Amino acid sequence: MTDIKALFQSLSRQEKIGQLLQLAPFLFVRDLAVEVAGYVRHLNLSEQKIFQSGSVLGIGSAEEMIEVQTKYLAKSKQKIPLIFMADIIHGYKTIFPVPIGLASSFDPTLAFETARVSAVEAATSGIHVTFSPMADLVRDPRWGRIVESFGEDPQLIAKMAEAMVKGYQHDGIEKEGNLASCVKHFAAYGAAEAGRDYNAADVSRLSLHQFYLPGYKAALEAGARMVMTSFNTIDGVPATTNRYLLRDVLRTLWGFEGVTISDYDSLQQTIAHGHSEDQRQAALHGITAGLDIEMASTTYTSHLSELIDAGEVDERLVDEAVMRILELKRDLGLFENPFKGADPVKAKEIVLSKPHLDKALEAAREAIVLLKNDGVLPLSKTQTVAIVGPYADERNMIGPWHWHGRRDLHATLKEVFADQSVFVKKAFRFDEFNEAEIKQIRTADVVLFALGEHEWQSGEAHSRSDIRIPFDQHTLLSLLGANQKSVVVLFNGRPLDLSNIQSADAIVEAWFPGSMAAEAIHEILLGVTNPSGKLPITFPKTLGQVPLYYNHQKTGRPYLGKDDRNEYVSKYLDIDNDPAYCFGHGLSYSNFVYGDVHVSSETIRSNDVLTVAFDVTNASAVPGKETALLFLKDHHGRVVRPVLELKAFRKENYRAHETKTLSFQLSFQDFGYVLDDGSFVVEPGLFTVYAGPDVSRLKGKTIRLLP
Ligand code: GLC
Repeated sequence: MTDIKALFQSLSRQEKIGQLLQLAPFLFVRDLAVEVAGYVRHLNLSEQKIFQSGSVLGIGSAEEMIEVQTKYLAKSKQKIPLIFMADIIHGYKTIFPVPIGLASSFDPTLAFETARVSAVEAATSGIHVTFSPMADLVRDPRWGRIVESFGEDPQLIAKMAEAMVKGYQHDGIEKEGNLASCVKHFAAYGAAEAGRDYNAADVSRLSLHQFYLPGYKAALEAGARMVMTSFNTIDGVPATTNRYLLRDVLRTLWGFEGVTISDYDSLQQTIAHGHSEDQRQAALHGITAGLDIEMASTTYTSHLSELIDAGEVDERLVDEAVMRILELKRDLGLFENPFKGADPVKAKEIVLSKPHLDKALEAAREAIVLLKNDGVLPLSKTQTVAIVGPYADERNMIGPWHWHGRRDLHATLKEVFADQSVFVKKAFRFDEFNEAEIKQIRTADVVLFALGEHEWQSGEAHSRSDIRIPFDQHTLLSLLGANQKSVVVLFNGRPLDLSNIQSADAIVEAWFPGSMAAEAIHEILLGVTNPSGKLPITFPKTLGQVPLYYNHQKTGRPYLGKDDRNEYVSKYLDIDNDPAYCFGHGLSYSNFVYGDVHVSSETIRSNDVLTVAFDVTNASAVPGKETALLFLKDHHGRVVRPVLELKAFRKENYRAHETKTLSFQLSFQDFGYVLDDGSFVVEPGLFTVYAGPDVSRLKGKTIRLLP
C-alpha cells in the first residue's frame, strides 16, 4: 500500500494544487499546440498543469482510458495516477429506466441491482467514480432534471440513493467491477425557482434540513465517497462556495471525510453569480468554503499559489483537500494498478450481455405506472392494434443522461406488436394523416397512442414553461373511431398536465424505460406483466397548482376537499387543490384491498417500539405486486409539521386472493424530525399512523407519544 503521507510530503505546492483540477480526456492526448491551443489558452493551462492534474471527466472506452493514463504517467513527474470519473446515471451501455422511473418501482433492491450492472459495465472502461446518485428533491414539474431525480419524498429518495451507492460501491471500491459513488447535486438544486434550471434556490433552513438534505445524507451514510456541489445558490451563496453546506453541514454536522467536487465550471460561475469578483476571488471562496476538486475550470491552478503567498489562503486548506484526493486514489487501488478495471476483452463479454438486458427488462417492467384503465387493459393477443405517435416506431426510449447508451440498438413498439398491428405511423398531429390512413386505423380494435416528450425536453438545461404533451400530439386522439378503444403510452421526463388526453380509455406512464422499453411495454399492455409502478411525484391537473406535493405544511385555513363550501380557506377560485394523480398513485390488474390499521399500543414512551400491522388482500384472480405505503401525521410541533410524511414502504408479491399481514416497527425516533439547525427532536403528542396504496386512500390509527 502506497505511503500517501510520504508521497504528499514529496509534492511541490503546484503539484499539490494540480491534484485539485479535473479536466476532459482530450487534453491529455491531443496536440496541445495545434488542436486545442485556444482552449488551453482560454483555461490558462499549460502542458505542465495538464500533466499535474488529478482526475479526468468522462471517458469513452477502456482503450481511451489506457491511452490517457499511459500518456499521463509518462509525462507527469510525480506519476500519481489519474482518477477517471463519469456520469453513469441509469446505466452505462445497458440502459435502465431513468431515475424517476426507477423510483416508480419503489424497489430499492432493484435499484441496487441496476447500480451493480452499471458499475460492472462502466468499470470495464476504466471508470472509477460515477457522478450518481442524484439525490435532489424536486417539486416543480417545469424543471428538466426531474427525470434524473427520485421525486418529491425525502424517505423514498433516501432509500433509493442508499441502494444506488451500495450497488456501485458494493464490497469495496478497491475491487474490480465497483465504482466509487459521488452523490449530487449538493444542495437543493431541485428547488430552482420557477423550475428554471440553474436558477436560485430560496429555501428556508427548516425546509433544507427536513426535505432537501436527507437524500444526500442517506447516500453518505451508505458510504458515498464524494459529493458534487450544485449550480444554485443557497441563502444567496453559490453551493460551490457555501461554507455552511460544505463545512458546517458536510464536515461538522455529518462528519463527511470524503472528497467534494464542483459541478461543471460551477466555481468559475460564482463570478457570473456576482459572488466572486474574479477568478482569484472564486479560488479564494472555493478553497475557504471546502471545495476540493474544481471541475472544468482553472481558478485554483491559476490563483491558489499566489493567494497562499499573499497570506489570504492557509496552505493547510489545500493540503487537506489534496490528502482527501490521495486517500481516494489509494482506496481505489490506483497506485497499485493505475489502469484498474480497463479491460477491452471483458467489456465485449459483459457489456449489453443477456443477463444485463434481462435486468433492464425487469427494471422497465417495475418502472411503468398504470395511471388510468377504464377496462381496456390488458389487451388480448387477438385484438388488432393501430400504433400512432412519435414513439410508435422509435428505438430511442432510453431518455437523457444515458451517455453511452445506444439510441439505435433496441426494439420498437412496431416490432413487438408486429403480429397484431394493422397500422403503424410515427407522427405528431392529426393533420399528418390522410383519409385512407384514418380508415385503416379505424379497422383496429384498439389504437395505441405512443406520445410524449423528446428526450431533450427534459434533463439538464431543459426546463419547460408548458407541461402539457408537446407538439399538439393530443390532436392524434381525434383519429379514434366511434367504437374503438384507446390506450396512451407516455414517454416523458417530468409530470405532465394530461388534461387534454383524459378521453383515453387507458393511460400508461412509461417515463423512458431504457434498453428493454418496447418489450416491457408490450408485456404490460398484454397483461403478461401486471403493472406495479407508483408515482414518486405528484401530477398536477394544471401548472397553476404548482408547487403541488403531498407532504406540504398544514395551514391555518385548511382546504377540506372539493365539497368544502368555506370561502376563506387555502384554495383557488377556478380549480380544486387535488392533483390529477397523487403521490403513490399506480393501478394494477389486480384489486388490492387494505384492512384497518392495528397498533401494538395506543401510547408509546421513549424506549418502546410500536408495531403497526394491516392486511393487504389481492381480492382478484390476478397475481400481482403491490407497494404498501406507511405514513405518519404529526399533529403538533414547535414548527408546523407536514400533513403527511412517508415513513416506510414495502413491495410484495400477492397470489390470486392472497392476504398478507404487513407489519412495520416504528421506534420512538421514527416520530422525530430535524429542526432548521439540523438537530433532531422527538416531541410527545398526538400522531396518526396511516397505511394505504397512495396518499388519497389511507386508513389510520391515532396514538400518543408520552414523555
Ligand atoms: C453537468 C451536470 C452534472 C454532471 C456534470 C459532469 O453539468 O450538472 O450532473 O455530473 O456536469 O458531467
